[in-house]
Amino acid sequence: MRTTRSEPGDDRPIGMFDSGFGGLTVARALIDLLPGEDLIYLGDTGRYPYGPRELPEVAWFAHQITEELVERHNVKLVVVACNTAAAAALDSLRERFDVPIIGVIEPGVRALVQATSTGRAGVIGTVGTINSGAYRAAVAAASPDTELVSLACPGFVEFVERGEFDTEQVHVLATALLAPAREAKVDALLLGCTHYPYLARTISDVMGRDVVLVSSADETAFEVRRLMYDSDIVHPRRGDRRGTSTFITTGDVNWFEELGRRLLGPELLRAEQLHWESEPPQ
Ligand code: DGL
Repeated sequence: MRTTRSEPGDDRPIGMFDSGFGGLTVARALIDLLPGEDLIYLGDTGRYPYGPRELPEVAWFAHQITEELVERHNVKLVVVACNTAAAAALDSLRERFDVPIIGVIEPGVRALVQATSTGRAGVIGTVGTINSGAYRAAVAAASPDTELVSLACPGFVEFVERGEFDTEQVHVLATALLAPAREAKVDALLLGCTHYPYLARTISDVMGRDVVLVSSADETAFEVRRLMYDSDIVHPRRGDRRGTSTFITTGDVNWFEELGRRLLGPELLRAEQLHWESEPPQ
């Protein structure tokens, strides 16, 4: 419930979601930056990966999850911590829901155009994200002179979801998929999928140490903090409390807890199970 007007701020939790574990990169950044806030994270592991799916289907999932976060958990804002879902549904979510909705695409692009000094930059993401053209449009709007190489990296998400980050197989796949970005001599590469920061070591080995890897997780957390202060929805007792983190999965709970704790850290002790009651129309 929202606090009274005489007490400024908003004590409701922040809601966020991803198809699975990738959004935990954003959750980590949010917990560190806004430790007094409560957080509800929904990982739709029962239906991951989103990347190869048609965008209308991903948009349907994004609306269903946002409704769950807003109506059942009474969140004060929603972070779409998944590039594929943001590419599919950010605008329609903003039209439908009253709470602020923050995606990962614009914050990442802002950091990318600042990071490139040659004006040749790259973005990697899922097939859905790259084919949506969302990054091309966002970079063109932010910095029309930046030359952008956009590459889909099918297979990366599956490696992360298996907890495999720097094996020989990941390296072989990364070498093949990233070749066009190396040939184009990009000097900055945006990890346009929230799963990819877990593969940063391998991606950096393949791209070379001189290429700056940009992750949207920190930038998105800064954007959330800016919006919360501007809109006066920070937790009223943020200075003297440690927020709680609640994790919900639509897939296997044990798997989510084990891999999630490895990825996020000790805040992920337990996960709750959610079963969807409806699925998108065929
Ligand atoms: N982590 C997601 C993203 O940022 C999606 C991964 C997937 O489910 O394919 O795009």
